[in-house]
Amino acid sequence: MTSLTFNVMTATRNFSSLDRWIVRIDEALRLSSGASPEPARPNPAGALAPAGLDAEQRRHVAGLMRVNHAGEICAQALYAGQAATARHDATREAMQQAADEEIDHLAWCESRLRELDSHTSFLNPLWYAGSFAIGALAGLAGDHWSLGFVRETEDQVEAHLQQHIDELPAGDERSRAILNQMKSDEASHSRMAEAAGGRELPEPIRKAMTLTAGIMKSLAYRI
Ligand SMILES: [Fe+2]
Ligand SMILES: [Fe+2]
Repeated sequence: MTSLTFNVMTATRNFSSLDRWIVRIDEALRLSSGASPEPARPNPAGALAPAGLDAEQRRHVAGLMRVNHAGEICAQALYAGQAATARHDATREAMQQAADEEIDHLAWCESRLRELDSHTSFLNPLWYAGSFAIGALAGLAGDHWSLGFVRETEDQVEAHLQQHIDELPAGDERSRAILNQMKSDEASHSRMAEAAGGRELPEPIRKAMTLTAGIMKSLAYRI
């Protein structure tokens, strides 16, 4: 190997690492400012007829979908934080693949909010920053704990989505189709994390996660 080749390889490697961080920051700014990337799969709401919702029902459904959109912002940030500190490439790649699938959820929720003439949470940059930090800490705890964190998060999100599905006004099949597909995807992310070696988290951590998610949900519903 010539020294020129070696220098180019070293520079490329350093640049790649810097590049990855620039991509992460760029992604954080784009996602938290409300610009959703294109979904890979079609919107499950498809051509379903819109329900005749009254003003109060629209406000409530928009609140629910805003919470779900904010949850997906958190999911992107958690996965990005975990991928940033994951020890093994296989774990990092599993995190990235799950994050890519969550992009669809983000785009579908945003689309439903637009249909309801509403907006995404104004606190999205805060949700992103806080979740990235939590994800990075989970990653530092080791891959088995980090995957356990994914498993627990996805289980809690699945239960929460069922609550929202139950709360939707009768006839709002567009929101229902989106939430049903998301719930099914979150269940498969949980199984992926378990199969990859995710450990069951200690109860105090699980409770702290429920508490933190509860604060986020009650704020994102309103703003
Ligand atoms: Fe999701
Ligand atoms: Fe998920």
